Amino acid sequence: MQKVTIFGAGHVGSTAAFYLATQAVFDITLIDAIEGRARGLALDIAQSLPFIGSGARVMGSSNSEDADGSDVIVITAGFPRKEGMSRIDLTRTNAPIVKKIASDAARFAPDSILIVVTNPVDEMTYLAWRASGFEASRVMGMAGVLDTSRFMYFLRESAPLEGELDSFVLGSHGDDMVVLVDSSTFEEKPISEVLSEEILSSCVRKTRDAGGEIVSLLKTGSAYFAPAVAVVTMVLAILGDTGRVLPVSAYLYGEYQLSDIFLGVPARLGRAGVLEVLEISLSERELVSLVKAARAIKKRTEELEGLLQ
Ligand code: 2OP
Repeated sequence: MQKVTIFGAGHVGSTAAFYLATQAVFDITLIDAIEGRARGLALDIAQSLPFIGSGARVMGSSNSEDADGSDVIVITAGFPRKEGMSRIDLTRTNAPIVKKIASDAARFAPDSILIVVTNPVDEMTYLAWRASGFEASRVMGMAGVLDTSRFMYFLRESAPLEGELDSFVLGSHGDDMVVLVDSSTFEEKPISEVLSEEILSSCVRKTRDAGGEIVSLLKTGSAYFAPAVAVVTMVLAILGDTGRVLPVSAYLYGEYQLSDIFLGVPARLGRAGVLEVLEISLSERELVSLVKAARAIKKRTEELEGLLQ
């Protein structure tokens, strides 16, 4: 049975464990530093499965060793934003947590693929890569699937679009997110032929602010249903070795003329992790925004190097 370990039994981690358990017969381990939390939630999830008809196995633990033999490790542990905070404000508190989990992952599951969810995600993915010592293709961050899902939601909410919508959100998971409006299509037609400039700009703005809007409504904590579905979408592409192209934070070796950075780009996922980063054709302004996002991430990851000593 393929094994997935999720570090962090907060809302994102436990919802991802539940949704994953409904999808296929996986062996799922939920690990949380708070004694009893992961075990309690794992029991609750496992007890929901008979009527779902799933044969997945779910267990909880507070011990990193229980990640042994995992095929995929998902890192969700860390503090969420509070109202008024940016994702970057979480760097200092979340970096030591991610660093420890990534090195535990390398120790107990040396052949695993790492998916990082903890914010600020592009920077934490870089940190997890460095702390694990894994090849970069086995480490990726989750953000683009979530941001793309949100953009598609706002597009469909703004107009009755019955048909195939194709779009990607790239760049960083924050203010420098790059919503590919110029390259988005509806039924293979440019989206700008279907929706007005005004509607499109409003959908881009709402997508950029979507996480913050949920944080301010919830008061404590941040979004978790859409992030959990995004995580599971990635896990299924990896473990099913499907080759599905999804927007993920992946390491660049010169693609888009950028390197030594984890940035949201379209990537083909499979059993070996990131099989390939796709260089899709972007408009001039999309490319400029992607490079701007990359510069900002690079500066912040350079600052993180000190935490790796
Ligand atoms: C969000 O955008 C948690 O960063 C995540 O909701």
